[in-house]
Amino acid sequence: MSEPLHILSADQFDLADLDRLMARSAEMEKALAAGGDPICQGQILGALFYEPSTRTRLSFETAMIRLGGQIISETDVTFSSAVKGEVIEDTIRIVGGYADVVAIRTQHKGEAKLAAHYSPVPVLNGGDGAGEHPTQALLDLYTITKHFEIGQRPLTVSFVGDLRYGRTVHSLAKLLSQFEGVKINYVAPEVIQIPDEYLRDSDEKHHELSDEVLSSSDVIYGTRMQKERFEDMEDFHKVKHAFVFSPEMVEKLPEGGKLLHPLPRAGEILQAVDSMPQACYFEQALNGVPVRMALIAEVLGK
Ligand code: CP
Repeated sequence: MSEPLHILSADQFDLADLDRLMARSAEMEKALAAGGDPICQGQILGALFYEPSTRTRLSFETAMIRLGGQIISETDVTFSSAVKGEVIEDTIRIVGGYADVVAIRTQHKGEAKLAAHYSPVPVLNGGDGAGEHPTQALLDLYTITKHFEIGQRPLTVSFVGDLRYGRTVHSLAKLLSQFEGVKINYVAPEVIQIPDEYLRDSDEKHHELSDEVLSSSDVIYGTRMQKERFEDMEDFHKVKHAFVFSPEMVEKLPEGGKLLHPLPRAGEILQAVDSMPQACYFEQALNGVPVRMALIAEVLGK
């Protein structure tokens, strides 16, 4: 029997993979307009979420339902055998026996990879602690490709906020680094700056969100301060209001510039920004369904 195809890290994709997945996501978006594409009839998605989630879990579940499949979902870990001490290696063997594919969110970096090692079916990493969130990065990339000719023209992307613990940033930075002509700025206080493992020589680190960065960024990618991951709460309180996007700030983006954010937000984007043409975060979240349809189809060989 062949090994299951897992989605664990943005590292696993080359440009050809990204082209194929973006094209498939566009096809899925068209299919969604007609109600879906029932290519996964008779198949089951298991959702094992050990951390809170709204978008990732529900968009995976919606994606499977739109593909004609069904779902089993572990939505509250306090009702899971994890509280009795069950380890992920055992849980995944069992859930992987019930379901044809498992989407998983774990508290610790590397845990999705560990689960995949023991899983008889594909594992989709829906966020592993402060590690990665590759399926979010793919929907972020899909959103960017809808507004910009990435790889064809120069593009400046500025990540702003909690870049140390923000797993969506880690995965998206890896994807963007594959494309010609993408410049990346990392804007954050040093205590939550991007870890060196994600930094390229051509990237720039900034501590302040200057007008110069705002006016030269085609994409600003804001993030929430990940309070739950700070080891020192004093550090959190020092940086929690470091960046708050107001309409006046967002106006400084260049013509056609977009503000993305994986959501949820925790005060870092004022609601007055929501109706501005630069605000792209709700569209971004909705793109999670077609992209995750494409990913489920990919790992199930459909
Ligand atoms: N973007 C994201 O991962 O959102 P949820 O935590 O709601 O899944």
